[in-house]
Amino acid sequence: MFMEDTYPFRGKYFLYVNLFLFILASSSRFASGQKWDGVVVAQADYQALRAIKNELVDFRGYLRSWNDSGYGACSGGWVGIKCVKGEVIAIQLPWKGLGGRISEKIGQLQALRKISMHDNVLAGAIPQSLGFLRNLRGVYLFNNRLSGSIPASLGNCPILQTLDVSNNSLVGSIPPSLANSTRLYRLNLSFNSLTGPVPVSLTRSRSLIFLALQHNNLSGSIPDSWGGEGNKSYLLQFLTLDHNRVSGNIPATLSKLDLLQEISLGHNHISGTIPSELGSLSRLQSLDLSNNAISGKFPSSFSNLSSLVSLNLGGNLLDNQIPEVFDRLHNLSVLDLKNNKFEGPIPVTIGNLSSINQLDLSQNNFSGGLPVSLDHLANLTSFNVSYNNLSGPVPSLLSKKFNSSSFVGNLQLCGYSASTPCASPPPAILPALTPQEAPKHRHRKLSIKDIALIAGGALLGVLLVLCCILLCCLMRKRAAKNQKNGKSVTKAAVVGKTEKGAPAGGAEVESGGEMGGKLVHFDGPFVFTADDLLCATAEIMGKSTYGTAYKATLEDGNQVAVKRLREKTTKGQREFETEAAAIGKIRHPNLLALRAYYLGPKGEKLLVFDYMPRGSLASFLHARGPETTISWPTRMNIAIGVARGLNHLHKKENIIHGNLTASNILLDEQTNAHIADYGISRLMTAAANTNVIATAGALGYRAPELSKLKNANTKTDVYSLGVIILELLTGKSPGEPMNGMDLPQWVASIVKEEWTNEVFDLELMRDAPNIGDELLNTLKLALHCVDPSPSARPEVEQVIQQLEEIKPDLYATSAGGDSGAKAPPTNED
Ligand SMILES: *[C@@H]1O[C@H](CO)[C@@H](O)[C@H](O)[C@H]1NC(C)=O
Ligand SMILES: *[C@@H]1O[C@H](CO)[C@@H](O)[C@H](O)[C@H]1NC(C)=O
Ligand SMILES: *[C@@H]1O[C@H](CO)[C@@H](O)[C@H](O)[C@H]1NC(C)=O
Ligand SMILES: *[C@@H]1O[C@H](CO)[C@@H](O)[C@H](O)[C@H]1NC(C)=O
Ligand SMILES: *[C@@H]1O[C@H](CO)[C@@H](O)[C@H](O)[C@H]1NC(C)=O
Ligand SMILES: *[C@@H]1O[C@H](CO)[C@@H](O)[C@H](O)[C@H]1NC(C)=O
Ligand SMILES: *[C@@H]1O[C@H](CO)[C@@H](O)[C@H](O)[C@H]1NC(C)=O
Ligand SMILES: *[C@@H]1O[C@H](CO)[C@@H](O)[C@H](O)[C@H]1NC(C)=O
Ligand SMILES: *[C@@H]1O[C@H](CO)[C@@H](O)[C@H](O)[C@H]1NC(C)=O
Ligand SMILES: *[C@@H]1O[C@H](CO)[C@@H](O)[C@H](O)[C@H]1NC(C)=O
Ligand SMILES: *[C@@H]1O[C@H](CO)[C@@H](O)[C@H](O)[C@H]1NC(C)=O
Ligand SMILES: *[C@@H]1O[C@H](CO)[C@@H](O)[C@H](O)[C@H]1NC(C)=O
Repeated sequence: MFMEDTYPFRGKYFLYVNLFLFILASSSRFASGQKWDGVVVAQADYQALRAIKNELVDFRGYLRSWNDSGYGACSGGWVGIKCVKGEVIAIQLPWKGLGGRISEKIGQLQALRKISMHDNVLAGAIPQSLGFLRNLRGVYLFNNRLSGSIPASLGNCPILQTLDVSNNSLVGSIPPSLANSTRLYRLNLSFNSLTGPVPVSLTRSRSLIFLALQHNNLSGSIPDSWGGEGNKSYLLQFLTLDHNRVSGNIPATLSKLDLLQEISLGHNHISGTIPSELGSLSRLQSLDLSNNAISGKFPSSFSNLSSLVSLNLGGNLLDNQIPEVFDRLHNLSVLDLKNNKFEGPIPVTIGNLSSINQLDLSQNNFSGGLPVSLDHLANLTSFNVSYNNLSGPVPSLLSKKFNSSSFVGNLQLCGYSASTPCASPPPAILPALTPQEAPKHRHRKLSIKDIALIAGGALLGVLLVLCCILLCCLMRKRAAKNQKNGKSVTKAAVVGKTEKGAPAGGAEVESGGEMGGKLVHFDGPFVFTADDLLCATAEIMGKSTYGTAYKATLEDGNQVAVKRLREKTTKGQREFETEAAAIGKIRHPNLLALRAYYLGPKGEKLLVFDYMPRGSLASFLHARGPETTISWPTRMNIAIGVARGLNHLHKKENIIHGNLTASNILLDEQTNAHIADYGISRLMTAAANTNVIATAGALGYRAPELSKLKNANTKTDVYSLGVIILELLTGKSPGEPMNGMDLPQWVASIVKEEWTNEVFDLELMRDAPNIGDELLNTLKLALHCVDPSPSARPEVEQVIQQLEEIKPDLYATSAGGDSGAKAPPTNED
């Protein structure tokens, strides 16, 4: 029933299904349209579920379906229950208003993998008996009212992956045994009332990625045993321990966790100095040590934290000067040093932190003037230097942007409000004045305040000179560095090991548990496990010859696109994996990235991609409402994107797409094109590929010579690209019959009769006076691409070049250019 033909466009008709069911049920059963016949639930499981229902308080009547003698429990009749072979594997009842408690009988559900009952009003303790469940992977009980302590027995669940019991009323200490599971990657115990120390065992876990312990009552010092011994790799990326009562020093061994992105230790009783080793954490984006009792100076090694976005050291006892050169922190947007004992000048280089938008230096003992370079910080939205020892005039833009509460408490600072005027000569001439000269000029006695102001000005002058010298030095440095900046830095690889010589060509492998499946991750933004994937809620997006595509929503709310490949069409496992690893390495802004694949125990194969919220180009163009128009720049941007993606495939990866169609081009939020399905033919058997080529022909994207040739080549791809550009120009689908002609023939016939205007999409014609030439030139180029003779067609590289020439300034549409001066192509008859 699920595999019936669905409308290929996202959001028209969809079915909510569970990927899991697809893995379990043999596909032939579904394919032949037979109904899923339920399996009767195992007796022990049935009794356990009854007991669980008895102890829950079902305020809103969600569990009314748990009524019959168990026949329905495993056939989808009982809400929130999932089974395999009559055994319950998942209880999913989040946001159901459920009260009462979770029965200890849950320990009888021997096959249970996942319990998700977060965001209810559950009270009582977390059942000890969860420790009996050898298959348990996920425990999601956050946002409830659970009390008691965390059962140490959870340490007996060998493959536990996620334990999130945050935001409850749990007490007691953290059981060290939680680190027993070698798969645990998310441990969230935050927002409880836990006491005692952070167990040493957690610092040695080689699987943890998220460790969230904030807002508890933890005490003792943080163990200095992170990263264990030797140079093993550790995966921890997020460590949040703020709002506890932790004391002692900041452990220097944190610097061994080279994937760390966030450290949050604020609002504790931490003392000692900041270990300079932390400067080696090249992926660190957020460091919060605020509101502790940390002393010593600002480590100069922090200038190496090149990924840093937010640095909060406020509310400590830090002193000394802040180092002059930390202008390498190009991504720093929040810098909070308030309420410390910093002294000396504010470094001029602060003006080079170009991304900064919040800067708080208040309540320190900074002296000297405010660097004029601060005026260069265009994105500054919050600024505070109040209560320091600063002097001289406030740079002009700063004083306009921020009111006096950003500057008060600096006796010698002037010019930030009507009541604090600077001495009358404008600040620009001030440096020329010395206090002795001033009286002659001004023929009046100077008040102490005036003298102070002038002295401040003089100081500023000296600073300006210094500033110039420094800037010259810096510019030379920058010039040297800019050479390196060409390459883009990939955002932290999520399952961590990707860049560290892990198995399968830079991929991360997870064996998919009881069912014997295997999940292999490539570089990408999401963390998930095989179970997360299989238990995700999925919505059918469309079907192709290769298989069915789903939009899957993971437990953490992230969305991915999953393609389930049709069975018996793929190559054998070893060959498949080699090819998939190669495809998983391909990264280009116009190519849909393969993030992971899953191999089921029976040979089922899932490919996981980024989810593209705006669906396919086909639906974008042809399944929109009459009110929605698509502008010429948007269409052109798509055309160029497709061409660039295709060029990368041809030139850099040596891959022929072979099936480029508007349904295979997906659009992200900004309607940038991402080509999908490239390289997939390499995963498929020859027979399956022949089939695809036949279909592509039927859809009108197939080059004519493919009826004779067996194999696609770069020129047949260029033909498909040409059809897509024609589709963008005409708004017509190549699938629609047009007097027995295909789209290229139809366009050619009209152009031949010199009615060229007739081919363009009507809505484009509205702007014709401005874009006429562009349309015409693009049309010529597209017709060139669909030339019946392959050798006459251009290479993709030339297509890109010409598109860029036609539309050099992509986003300045009809804004005045000379293209508007010429008349549009006219309709001659
Ligand atoms: C059980 O509940 C389902 C759904 O609420 C309902 O359709 C069915 O009739 C009920 N069966 C019995 C025996 O009460
Ligand atoms: C904790 O849960 C309550 C409701 O149970 C919710 O209102 C609150 O926002 C949650 N707190 C956090 C930090 O998530
Ligand atoms: C941990 O739980 C808290 C409260 O429920 C939530 O705000 C936070 O995002 C969670 N963090 C992780 C890493 O799961
Ligand atoms: C779990 O950890 C505890 C202490 O860390 C240890 O004593 C126990 O033997 C471990 N249990 C298993 C099943 O590995
Ligand atoms: C922490 O403990 C103190 C006293 O021991 C108590 O007053 C406070 O409420 C506790 N905080 C939390 C979040 O449990
Ligand atoms: C650590 O890594 C280096 C090179 O990466 C290697 O030479 C050394 O033997 C390793 N040490 C240990 C203890 O594994
Ligand atoms: C920054 O890193 C470089 C290279 O890793 C190192 O040579 C330099 O000493 C570091 N700078 C500081 C101030 O630690
Ligand atoms: C800075 O931020 C940009 C945009 O988020 C990112 O692409 C880049 O990799 C970051 N740079 C570093 C050094 O982390
Ligand atoms: C300033 O902010 C805007 C919008 O947030 C951003 O696009 C721009 O890149 C920022 N500029 C710098 C220099 O970071
Ligand atoms: C502030 O710094 C000045 C030197 O610039 C020093 O004389 C003064 O004692 C410092 N004040 C405090 C409160 O540390
Ligand atoms: C600046 O900081 C001071 C003290 O830290 C505070 O009282 C004042 O409200 C802040 N002003 C702004 C604009 O944030
Ligand atoms: C720092 O900023 C100034 C302008 O304020 C600029 O001229 C200089 O090149 C920048 N230096 C570096 C190293 O970025």
